[in-house]
Amino acid sequence: MTPRLSGKTAVITGAARGLGRATAVAFAREGADLMLLDLAADLPGVPYPLGSESQLAHTAELCREQGVAASTARLDVRDLDAVEAAMATTRERFGRIDVLVNNAGIAAPSGKAAHEIDEREWQLMIDVDLSGAWRTIRAVGGHMAEQRSGSIINIASTAGLVGYRHFAGYVAAKHGLVGLTKAVALDYAPLKVRVNALCPGSVRDDSQVEGRMLSEIARCLDVPVAEHEETFVQAQPMNSLIEPEDIASAAVWLASDESRQVTGSVLAVDGGFTAR
Ligand SMILES: NC(=O)c1ccc[n+]([C@@H]2O[C@H](COP(=O)([O-])OP(=O)(O)OC[C@H]3O[C@@H](n4cnc5c(N)ncnc54)[C@H](O)[C@@H]3O)[C@@H](O)[C@H]2O)c1
Repeated sequence: MTPRLSGKTAVITGAARGLGRATAVAFAREGADLMLLDLAADLPGVPYPLGSESQLAHTAELCREQGVAASTARLDVRDLDAVEAAMATTRERFGRIDVLVNNAGIAAPSGKAAHEIDEREWQLMIDVDLSGAWRTIRAVGGHMAEQRSGSIINIASTAGLVGYRHFAGYVAAKHGLVGLTKAVALDYAPLKVRVNALCPGSVRDDSQVEGRMLSEIARCLDVPVAEHEETFVQAQPMNSLIEPEDIASAAVWLASDESRQVTGSVLAVDGGFTAR
């Protein structure tokens, strides 16, 4: 069978670990060349370690093992100049950008009621989780429009569809990302550039991809990880946590031409959590 993404170049943010790494490897398996972006450093104000340079390099290595080209660059999605420079480098190196996955995100500072969040914490969350995606879209939108093709995939969350107590900044940013997805889908639909959102439910922290969001969210809520996992196993009607591959394979489909009529859609991969 022909790999579903062969001939395509994809840019993935937050690719050092977690869902970004799972998506990168799944794209590589389907033949896409990759530009893998990550801050690859800790961020003041985020109370847990982010991806590292060696993790980003490891993701690239895993992709190359699949026989594709994979480059990396370190950047902060809060820095528009850096984002534009990375997209320019990608185009120089690969000639085109067919797919953009806006995956970089932070889950904290969180764990407080709205009146306890200070303005710096609020701005940080919105700047990374919402404005970061707008910046990358700004940097590739014109190119994809000229190409008359492209697929942009925004990794939102079930927190983009429903509220979670003590996560106002994250929930607001992810709802904003869902709104951004729909608005930009309409901007680009006549130009054949598609824009969709994926809303993962609670994903298992998988050691292969070195994910740690579930345990960090548990920590924010001051709940033991095992208890937090069990709460979500019960809350997700399919009675299991989501696996990173579940998100990666949905992203492969959205990136591929199999979904060519799908734009402006918001796909929950949450074991039925938001169906209630
Ligand atoms: N894991 C889950 O349960 C879950 C559920 C719903 C949604 N999501 C979303 O999926 C995405 C990936 O989550 P994950 O679980 O893999 O998290 P993760 O923390 O393991 O990975 C996120 C990556 O983004 C990078 N990053 C963070 N801030 C950045 C910045 N300013 N600039 C560039 N890179 C930055 C980090 O270095 C890290 O490598 C996030 O947007 C998250 O909100 C995750």
